[in-house]
Amino acid sequence: MPGIRAPSNYSEEPPRHPALKINAKEPFNAEPPRQALVSSYVTPTEFFYKRSHGPIPVVDDIERYSVSVAGLIEKPKQLFMKDIMNLPKYNVTATLQCAGNRRTAMSKTRTVKGVGWDVSALGNAIWGGAKLADVLELVGIPKLTSVTPAGGKHVEFVSVDRCKEEKGGPYKASIPLVQATNPEADVLLAYEMNGETLNRDHGYPLRVVVPGVIGARSVKWLDSINIDSQVCQGFFMQKDYKMFPPSVNWDNIDWSTRRPQMDFPVQSAICSLEDMNVGKSGKITIKGYAVSGGGRGIERVDISTDGGKTWKEASRYQKPGVQYIADQEEKSDKWAWVLFETEADVHSNTVIVAKAVDTSANVQPEKVEDIWNLRGILNTSWHRVHVQVRHSSM
Ligand code: MTE
Repeated sequence: MPGIRAPSNYSEEPPRHPALKINAKEPFNAEPPRQALVSSYVTPTEFFYKRSHGPIPVVDDIERYSVSVAGLIEKPKQLFMKDIMNLPKYNVTATLQCAGNRRTAMSKTRTVKGVGWDVSALGNAIWGGAKLADVLELVGIPKLTSVTPAGGKHVEFVSVDRCKEEKGGPYKASIPLVQATNPEADVLLAYEMNGETLNRDHGYPLRVVVPGVIGARSVKWLDSINIDSQVCQGFFMQKDYKMFPPSVNWDNIDWSTRRPQMDFPVQSAICSLEDMNVGKSGKITIKGYAVSGGGRGIERVDISTDGGKTWKEASRYQKPGVQYIADQEEKSDKWAWVLFETEADVHSNTVIVAKAVDTSANVQPEKVEDIWNLRGILNTSWHRVHVQVRHSSM
């Protein structure tokens, strides 16, 4: 791979913010503290969660770096950064969420396999780059194509990094061609994050961003794009990131029975409070995020201060001074999270709960037990925090 290489060990990792909570060091997996996560609508890059499966690639010569586009197409091409940057540039505000977000809480009911995450394995960034639909036009695939004349139906992204799950091979994933060639799906080949050149942890020099879909499909450090007749056969599409029912365990699992997870379901979490809080009796602020996949907006966020018996609606917002209305382009960012906030009077020990409803009226499930799965993905159960009130004797 001219211009870019995958180190064989972790001696060339980039610097990272010391406030990140490290869940695994090698490969590096870290998330910001809850409070920091919701202190702004756009997540600062240094606080954006980092999820990798191997050493971070190193670019030695950006001029020589290129992406090959090949497979079931008529005009295979080698695209250099200048070719990608010559295409119209789009800025898309989109929330990327790891399917393993909130896995630690799921593992408390029954053990699951995977990196432990609290509630911050997601972030909201402004991604800048070319639309994949425009890139595919350069190799002769028109907009809104579901199958190429040679039978290509899926767009596979192959990366530069090497991971042990692929037995030392590259990380890869695919999305349907019809989504890749739909300009409205806003799939990007991004070279910028929050107005700056993408940094190494997040995929420098070029990454895929698939809005509304679990983070695993947004392949970083892109090496090649392959138009294929079938879904990518890589580990992370076939033997991981699939949702199984609670009855499936490591003895009876049959990976082929389930589809690779794509859109993520409706999710929310309280970030102004930790799991266990001790405080004075009185007013508390309850603040957090809500997000849904597939471009669905957030219709409501319900908060309970009595463990889920009664509820009140929290206020929702994205940009300061603009009222959030889902599904209206000028009033909301379709692919982005919504922050919520409310105040409550708490005078005795209690459990505070958040649950969100998306614009298709999908609601978060009450109990984690009902959605438990052996890989611990998509824990979208009601988010609960325990509050203990200290009554002063003065
Ligand atoms: N792409 C490559 N090449 N290697 C990876 O390990 N991890 C995936 C995805 N793309 C990964 C990758 C997963 S599981 C997630 S959740 C997101 O990248 C994380 O992106 P971030 O580190 O920019 O937050």
